[in-house]
Amino acid sequence: MNVSDNKSKLSLSSSPISIYHNSKFSFDDVESVLEPLFGNYYGISELRAIISNVDHIWCAYNTTKKQYVACALVRTYNKDKVLFINLFGVTQACQGQGIGTRLLKAIKNWGQKQKYVAIILHTQVDNYKAIGLYEKVGFYKQYYITNFFPPRGCLSFFRSHGSDAYEMILYL
Ligand SMILES: CC(C)(COP(=O)(O)OP(=O)(O)OC[C@H]1O[C@@H](n2cnc3c(N)ncnc32)[C@H](O)[C@@H]1OP(=O)(O)O)[C@@H](O)C(=O)NCCC(=O)NCCS
Repeated sequence: MNVSDNKSKLSLSSSPISIYHNSKFSFDDVESVLEPLFGNYYGISELRAIISNVDHIWCAYNTTKKQYVACALVRTYNKDKVLFINLFGVTQACQGQGIGTRLLKAIKNWGQKQKYVAIILHTQVDNYKAIGLYEKVGFYKQYYITNFFPPRGCLSFFRSHGSDAYEMILYL
């Protein structure tokens, strides 16, 4: 994970939540958020490989509780000036507090400043919470993809959702 450069911090003084971009996150920092959400599907070694291979990481950190509460793993396709969100999640206890919205808006703002043209992601067609968040921030459904998330592993998160996906896009 080459995340030591391009460090930035975006915070609201009244909020205990700070958003960090490409700070010196350890695997433990990122996995503490993403492993409970996605570990049963990907398995720890594949999850670690995904973390290692992304170009950017954004995390939300609760400065009062001193813990990471949300992470987004993002790849860049520089030829097309497109950002691709590989994984995006907020720890279960902190969902519904606007943290996902703040994290996604931070990625969107950064992408606009860097002159990317779009952000793309995939989400299960029945993950209404995620779709609601993405549409609120300006994404729309571009394609319906059958069996994009095939059954595998123990599936605790993915079992609660179907295997079909929407590809969603946000033009910047
Ligand atoms: C999906 C997820 C990222 C949302 O993050 P969050 O911090 O809980 O979201 P927010 O509190 O910022 O809510 C954002 C919006 O989501 C939408 N939303 C939330 N709950 C919803 C629900 N039950 N149904 C429909 N939309 C919902 C709303 O539009 C909400 O905006 P509003 O509060 O202004 O109405 C988070 O719940 C999560 O990590 N879930 C598990 C992992 C996951 O599904 N990741 C996405 C994989 S593609």
